[in-house]
Amino acid sequence: MSLRYQSGFGNEFATEAIPGTLPVGRNSPQRVAHGLYAEQISGTAFTMPRHVNLRSWMYRIRPGSMHQHFEPISEGTFHNRFDEQAADPNPLRWSPCPIPSQRTDFVAGLYTMAGNGSPAAMAGIGMHVYAANASMIDRFFVNADGEMLIVLQQGRLRFVTEMGVIDAAPLEIVVIPRGIRFRVELIDGDARGYVAENFGHALRLPDLGPIGSNGLANPRDFLAPVAAYEDREGDFELVHKFQGRLWSARIGHSPCDVVGWHGNYAPYKYDLRRFNTIGSISFDHPDPSIFTVLTSPSAVPGTANMDFAIFPPRILAMQDTFRPPWFHRNIASEFMGLIEGVYDAKADGFAPGGASLHTCMTGHGPDATTFEKASVADLSKPDYIVDTMAFMFETSLVITPTAQALAAAHRQRDYAQCWQGLKKHFVAPH
Ligand SMILES: [Fe+2]
Repeated sequence: MSLRYQSGFGNEFATEAIPGTLPVGRNSPQRVAHGLYAEQISGTAFTMPRHVNLRSWMYRIRPGSMHQHFEPISEGTFHNRFDEQAADPNPLRWSPCPIPSQRTDFVAGLYTMAGNGSPAAMAGIGMHVYAANASMIDRFFVNADGEMLIVLQQGRLRFVTEMGVIDAAPLEIVVIPRGIRFRVELIDGDARGYVAENFGHALRLPDLGPIGSNGLANPRDFLAPVAAYEDREGDFELVHKFQGRLWSARIGHSPCDVVGWHGNYAPYKYDLRRFNTIGSISFDHPDPSIFTVLTSPSAVPGTANMDFAIFPPRILAMQDTFRPPWFHRNIASEFMGLIEGVYDAKADGFAPGGASLHTCMTGHGPDATTFEKASVADLSKPDYIVDTMAFMFETSLVITPTAQALAAAHRQRDYAQCWQGLKKHFVAPH
């Protein structure tokens, strides 16, 4: 199946799987074409300023209220319990989450690593990994707690959503807005990746300031699906995430039954290789905010609820400069992952599919091997950083790891040793 997409970020899209579905000149006519129901979904308060207001109108076979009673599901590995233990100031790192041996779909395979804030406060984010080996066919999921930014690391995924179908491969990301129902099929069998669950304002493109009207992630590279519907009846399950817990209801039809929709509230995907990476052409590094793909603003101007930043292939040509990422301590907290290749601040230990966490004011930076090498590197030629893609979920609130992440067998308990080999080079002048 070759899919079609609509290009643009937050555009007012209009799409119909059957011609003549969308009403003309009104949103909810007395009778919708083809016997469909009209339903609005709002992703922001009705009265948000126009340029950040998000809503779409769906024209569907059955309205979203048609399902049975929600019952809570017993607690699994996907949750928002970020207060179950004290926040840990240590630098933390994990090897890749193993692919399960038992049948596990995308939702069952979600494993919460860390987070902050809460769905109730509509602030903060959950940081999760997923490892799955089975498709969701008769099971659908919806997250009322936040939008989900999915970073594919291994295995292609097909997102069958209310608003159409998105196929994505590693090095692409998919964003499913809060409240949009979907299921995930595995195209290649085993799949692994990362998820940021954003409880705050919806992700948007960062302002560009003096960069100008082009650069970083360009709007036309974001792809939303065209309308596609399932007219499918059976005994299905709708899993609903609400206030940190999963609830389950029976549903007698596929909720992905939207025949046409218009509006600017829709899932989308983005190919990280399309990112226009900007950096120094003289000396020093800009701050890593220059790598921001998407940002969720907080109530404080200039401070993000979350930033999604990437460290893609790039050329380093700065003179008299330590070229890898430098030693630093930030007020922000950083959860990092690696999609492919090697991250240029670490010689080893940070593997594709793995993760690291450096929280507020925890010192980190290049390991001893990287420091020694880069300190004497030949700067007369550029460094070509190739075949790599690391990313960061950066947040202004302190990130707390979950108990299961701290206890995980794949946690690297010796991570901090990577800096203990840094030599004392200081010599006091006589
Ligand atoms: Fe950092």
